[in-house]
Amino acid sequence: MCGIVAYIGYKNAHPILIKGLQRLEYRGYDSAGISILNGKIQTYKTVGKVAELEKYIEGKNIVGEAGIAHTRWATHGEPNQINAHPHYSQSKSISLIHNGIIENYATLKEELISRGYVFESDTDTEVLVNLIEDIRINENVLLDEAVRIALCQVVGAYAIVILSDEHPNTLIAARKGSPLVIGIGEDDYYIASDATPIVEYTKNVVYLEDEEIAVLTRGQDFKIVTNKNKEKTPYVQELEWNLSELEKGGYDHFMMKEIYEQPRSIRDSMRGRLNSITGNVSLGGIIDYEQKLLTAKRIIIIACGTSWHAGLVGEYLLEDIARVTVEVEYASEFRYRNPIITEDDVVIAISQSGETADTLAAIDLAKSKGATILGICNVVGSSIARATHAGSYTHAGPEIGVASTKAFTAQVTVLTLMALRLAQLKGNIPKARFMQLLQEMEQLPEKVEKVLKTNSKGLVSQIANKYKDVNNFLYLGRGYNFPVALEGALKLKEISYIHAEGYPAAEMKHGPIALIDENMPVVFIAPYLGIYEKVVSNIQEVKARKGNVIAIVTEGDTTVKEIADFVIEIPATEEYLVPILASIPLQKLAYHIAVLRGCNVDMPRNLAKSVTVE
Ligand code: G6P
Repeated sequence: MCGIVAYIGYKNAHPILIKGLQRLEYRGYDSAGISILNGKIQTYKTVGKVAELEKYIEGKNIVGEAGIAHTRWATHGEPNQINAHPHYSQSKSISLIHNGIIENYATLKEELISRGYVFESDTDTEVLVNLIEDIRINENVLLDEAVRIALCQVVGAYAIVILSDEHPNTLIAARKGSPLVIGIGEDDYYIASDATPIVEYTKNVVYLEDEEIAVLTRGQDFKIVTNKNKEKTPYVQELEWNLSELEKGGYDHFMMKEIYEQPRSIRDSMRGRLNSITGNVSLGGIIDYEQKLLTAKRIIIIACGTSWHAGLVGEYLLEDIARVTVEVEYASEFRYRNPIITEDDVVIAISQSGETADTLAAIDLAKSKGATILGICNVVGSSIARATHAGSYTHAGPEIGVASTKAFTAQVTVLTLMALRLAQLKGNIPKARFMQLLQEMEQLPEKVEKVLKTNSKGLVSQIANKYKDVNNFLYLGRGYNFPVALEGALKLKEISYIHAEGYPAAEMKHGPIALIDENMPVVFIAPYLGIYEKVVSNIQEVKARKGNVIAIVTEGDTTVKEIADFVIEIPATEEYLVPILASIPLQKLAYHIAVLRGCNVDMPRNLAKSVTVE
């Protein structure tokens, strides 16, 4: 999730842009850059914090009343100075900042290379800026028209702002799938990814809609057209939130914001990787290792914490759908237990941060034994991403809340895509059935949205209110939902400090059943799938001992509804997609309980977002 700030007017742009970037720092990023127009465009970029950029440009005479600035969260290419934004077009006449992912950048890039364009960076953004320049010159159109034509050729998501020395009084901004806000000053304009950099200058804003292009000329009214060249009447709103509310998107905590971001983050994890019409699934980053995965004696997944739970879901997915042998290991155990690893093994390391010390050490060990190492990370260019032979990024955007939510569902999304891809290559699922699986997966973001909406009417808060003071919680699930139970329990433990355990539901009778009495809430993940009846029996066993049952069920379920104290519904889906849908109410349950207990949800005691020590 990159941060965008831009200004055009009659004030010096540089301080406004730097301050704006600082306001966006909460989003997390790996590099930053700025372009200022004063006759020609001057661009400065650095790796690291905005403070580094400030230091870098200190003493340089940067004066100009139009400029664009960017904090980058890498998606294509390492986080380094060259890949940082803004990006110039080849002639250096246009400079562009971009938030999002352009899926067809490789095809567009090839075409531009054949027309003589040379690329400096690995980014999809440099492709877009050169595409715009190419259209402007070859079709001899004005810049805003060139932008419009270029955007019609682009597949993917973007929020962009363009600065050009040929149009020194104008900025062009456009969006599709990534947010962009325009602040309307007296005779100037501010543009940003969210309203935080704008709020101190003006309260009048326009939220650009998908496929809209804004042409903002200093001292003049602005114009909005659609990608189809239809003029739109802008809807100007007045900002009501203060700065800290704005950073959290109106939520009280980053964790809740991130829970609600999941329809988008899951969509971003799938973007360009699945096509239910052609029946194709691809994970570009591991394409060269597909054969290795297919012929591997076994796949060993290594991870810690929530990522280990994603790995467990991965085991069910890869064995069930792709029929490959999988083992899942805690990285911390694996690294010290003298494991048997051979050159025929493929190790998949999963890590949100890409910096977890135990996971890194486990990778080094497996590598030294000749195994092939693939990574599933959220942070581009992180240590784990660099230490692996290849990998797939989860593209969930930066996660600020210490308790992982959207990064977990993005990891499971990537593992699901991997299982589907291997199944496709192996041809072990009949074509019609395979197409069905893909269609269902494509609907996942909408179903996640539905889960968030259905349960937004206070049901989860009501459950939280009833059980907020208990000392113990049990989470039970079977099959694909056993790891969901583990993750649900971990979420509660992490942020509410209530002791919670996750168990395979059938294992309850081998121990945990002794704990059940009228004070024990038991969360069951009981979708109407797989071994549903057996889970219902487990629920009855708990009820018979006066336990309290909170059940996650499939929409329309009546059997569990009759016995459970509370039911939370999720939409019907294929079994292999339930873990993602079922995790979401559990994240919300943990959140509400933690808030009611007065805990610091985003920064729970004793925990860290990135554990870089053993
Ligand atoms: C810490 C975090 C957890 C995370 C775990 C693994 O314990 O608090 O949320 O699951 O590390 O982190 P990773 O970045 O490797 O996924």
